Amino acid sequence: MNSRSKIHNSRKNAAAARRAEARHLMNTYKRPPVTLTHGRGCYLFDDSGKKYLDFLGGIAVNALGHAHPRLVRVVRREAARAIHLSNLFHNPYQGPLARKLARWSGLDRVFFTNSGTEAIEGALKLARVHAGKRNNGGGKQCRFLALENSFHGRTFGALAITSSAKYREPYEPLVPGAEFVRFNDVADLEKKFDATVCAIVLEPIQGEGGVASVSEVFYQRARELATRHGAALIADEIQCGLGRTGRYFAYQNFTAKPDIVTVAKPLAGGLPLGAFIANEEFASAFSPGLHGTTFGGGPLVCAAALEFLTIVEEEKLLANVRARGAELRAGLEKLAAKFDFIREVRGEGLILGLELAGDANEYAREAFRRGLVINCTHDHVLRFLPAFNITTRHVREFLGGLESVLAGTPRPAEQPQPGPAPAARASGMARAAAQ
Ligand SMILES: Cc1ncc(COP(=O)(O)O)c(C=O)c1O
Repeated sequence: MNSRSKIHNSRKNAAAARRAEARHLMNTYKRPPVTLTHGRGCYLFDDSGKKYLDFLGGIAVNALGHAHPRLVRVVRREAARAIHLSNLFHNPYQGPLARKLARWSGLDRVFFTNSGTEAIEGALKLARVHAGKRNNGGGKQCRFLALENSFHGRTFGALAITSSAKYREPYEPLVPGAEFVRFNDVADLEKKFDATVCAIVLEPIQGEGGVASVSEVFYQRARELATRHGAALIADEIQCGLGRTGRYFAYQNFTAKPDIVTVAKPLAGGLPLGAFIANEEFASAFSPGLHGTTFGGGPLVCAAALEFLTIVEEEKLLANVRARGAELRAGLEKLAAKFDFIREVRGEGLILGLELAGDANEYAREAFRRGLVINCTHDHVLRFLPAFNITTRHVREFLGGLESVLAGTPRPAEQPQPGPAPAARASGMARAAAQ
């Protein structure tokens, strides 16, 4: 079969698959009318053979790009050995992977899950059971604090600490006891944090909330209050952790550690795996039977995760994230100087965003039409989450493409901005500038 008829067939099959989706999938996602068929490095290809530069990475998942040969080798090898064994038995990879995560995080013990939202559920349960033991079974210390504009997942517990009304309201009543603190507002934190709080959950850099950084002052105060009341400080690093900022964890920008950190997205190089990692004091609140999962931490996914973390170390990808992140940020600052509808450049390392004066969705759609994969979050922020192993050439290609998207997209009406108050934005900017 020649390549033209191959493409013709693949387009026919892809169109048939999309019709089946339209008829049989639940109506939860809006997708452009093309089918992505495969990826190589930081490029994606659709059923017509069109090539895209991927600066979204499956929403912060594909940190090594697509089809990294070492990951492919490990997945093939382990698939032929044992895909699943169950948590009733030891497997060869959970221990070594947990040890590496403990080293990276500076914490002690790990529980493996299948997704980010389950890592959050587990962390909330651990905080509650720890508080229960601390209070000899009394249930008064059960409140959760989270931040405005947070996103922690779609299951009921995670949704209860996710602030956006559009995600929450259709499902109420949610898990009771959650309350939101104004972003980076220390006075509001102090007002709401008392002895009835068992955990405060924060993303050191909010992802879905528009790439907004928690200030050091706020983080340190949350740390002090959590310690004073015996509550857990939970860092949700599902999006910003595991190397994305150029550090193992975003909280390593601050001096104090959290008690629990949640991870997922890039952990197994694209296979579904999450985890929550706790210090000994909190982890010791669990005993056999208190928590569990069928799939979490199977041998195939754990072997892939161990390979991912090892590649990050051996290929010195944290340094690459910092260097490429600085280049990308500098290029975005230049675009901000050129286009007056760009309000702010946000983020650090390779979690970066452009806050626009109006709705940014059309810019993300136009980027896709022009062969750039990015997305819009929080309605007015274009978000960039490329692979950790991108090169300077990719950064240049991306910035050139983005400039033509910004210049060539009809400008939407300006809107008042939701999100962090100007003071909070300013402190985030100052911190980013200081790095
Ligand atoms: C910070 C954060 N927490 C939790 C989640 C939920 O993870 P998952 O979609 O794997 O359940 C996400 C997903 O975007 C996230 O960005």
